[in-house]
Formats: sequence, structure tokens, C-alpha cells
Amino acid sequence: MKDIVANRKKIGLVQKIQLMRTALLENGFFWTTHLILYYAASSIADSVYTRMNQLRTKRDLPGIHSVAMNREIWRSWDWESGGEEWTPSVEWKKSLTDSVLLKYMTKGGRILEVGPGAGRWTETLQKIAGHLIAIDISDRCIEICKRKFAGCDNAEFLVSNGSEVPLVEDDSIDSIWSFDVFVHINAPEAGEYVKEFKRVLRAGGHAAIHHGQDGGVHGGWRSNLTSKTFRAILEANGFRILTQFAEWRDGEQVFKISQYGDLLTVFENPG
Ligand SMILES: C[S@@+](CC[C@H](N)C(=O)[O-])C[C@H]1O[C@@H](n2cnc3c(N)ncnc32)[C@H](O)[C@@H]1O
Repeated sequence: MKDIVANRKKIGLVQKIQLMRTALLENGFFWTTHLILYYAASSIADSVYTRMNQLRTKRDLPGIHSVAMNREIWRSWDWESGGEEWTPSVEWKKSLTDSVLLKYMTKGGRILEVGPGAGRWTETLQKIAGHLIAIDISDRCIEICKRKFAGCDNAEFLVSNGSEVPLVEDDSIDSIWSFDVFVHINAPEAGEYVKEFKRVLRAGGHAAIHHGQDGGVHGGWRSNLTSKTFRAILEANGFRILTQFAEWRDGEQVFKISQYGDLLTVFENPG
């Protein structure tokens, strides 16, 4: 239904009238009035989203992606589905795990995860890590993870202040993973995290970070961190970018990082 409504931008007035006429003939006045309302409300919601994005850029507002907003949103999130509501398919998750996560994270190494949520990727990271440190701005997520991974003596979970890596020594981490997190972190805080990555990642260590591309222009409530800005921040901090991609191939199949054109950037600390 959402796609049919989104298609309104591509069809002319005559086609719209024809569509409504058919709906009216087949479903009657009452139902068709509701369809028109839905159509109009979706249109208004789209315009409001675009306007909010423009205002955010023009007035340099944090939108819903400040540290305080992120803390509140994720503390009160319904974690019943464990974050799997963001997994488009079982195949997608398996391929992202096998083709990306396992390719870049050092097995047996000290791995840092930023923003584990309810542990959607932590499950795999904990299994392959010699030692795993996961930090999250939400104390609730940290509680959930502590419960889920109780008994795993190679994993520790810490609440972060939203821009720093707490209690982790310099040059002590082999790999860093973060998925579905930097899409919600604005550029200034992302910049602070990158400084911290430079501090904790040992020379030769890799990081794989999922982030937005265009500041949410194409939907998805993305932060103002664009791919261009992220690249610039990484280079300014002396990282070497190894690859940056929006999709990957796995045999015959091509998978997208997300439906909003997000990217995954893999970078290395050259030392
Ligand atoms: C959309 S959820 C994704 C959770 C998990 N990575 C997954 O893919 O299922 C976003 C997560 O990022 C965390 N987060 C948001 N801003 C953060 C920040 N500045 N520092 C650390 N974690 C943050 C949230 O608390 C939440 O756990």
C-alpha cells in the first residue's frame, strides 16, 4: 500500500482521478473517503519530513540525533524483537555476517562494538572474539546484553557517554564493528568517536562502520553525518579507507546495506 501511495508522484491527475473512480465503483463512498484520507495524510507526512530535514540543515539543529535524544529513544525502545525488526531477511543477515563481519573482524582478537542494542550482531562477535567490549549510550541496552551474555566471560558491556570509548586502553583493540548506530549519530559526536577509534585501535587494526549517505534526504530518519563528511573525518584522523560500499555481492545475489542508500566504510589504522 505504501508503494502505491508513493507512486502518486509519478502519475498525472487524470490517472489519479481514474484510480479513485475505480475505487469508488468497487468499494463505495465510505471506504474510498478513507483511501483519499490515507493518500492525503501520507502526502502531508512526506512534505513535513522534507521540511523538517530542510529546517534541521538550515538552522543546524540536532534533530532527533543528539546524545540526549538518542539516550531517550533507545532507552524506551521496545526491544522485544531483539533488533531483528531491522533485519530485512534471514539471507541478508547471514550474508552480511559471512561476507562482511567475518571478513573484517579479527578472530580471537579484542573487538569493540559500538551500539549493540539487544545484541543482534553481538551474538556473532562474542563467539569469534578473544575479548569483546560493547558500549552503548542506553543503559537499558547494556542491561539487556549483560543478561543475554551472562556466563560469557569474554564479553563486557559498558554504558558510554555518546562520544567516548570508556575504560579502554590505547592501542588495545584489533577490530571495531558498528551497525545501525552511526546512522543515528550526528557529525560532531561521530568526529569524537573517530578520535577515540584512533586512540584505541592498534596499528593495522580494522573498523567496519555502517553510516548514512545523504543526511536523511531519502528518508529513514538519518543523522546529519553524510558519507562525504565521514570520509573527511576519517582522513583527518589519519585512517586509511579500505572500502566504502552500499551493496555487496554474494554468489548470484546482490544485497543492499539498507533501503536508504546507507554505506559501510571499512578503514584501517596505518599506525
Ligand atoms: C537502531 S539501534 C541498533 C542496535 C544494534 N546495533 C542492531 O543493529 O540491532 C541503535 C543503537 O545505537 C545506540 N546508540 C545511539 N547513539 C549512540 C551513541 N552516541 N553511542 C553509543 N551508542 C549509541 C542505541 O542505544 C541503540 O542501541
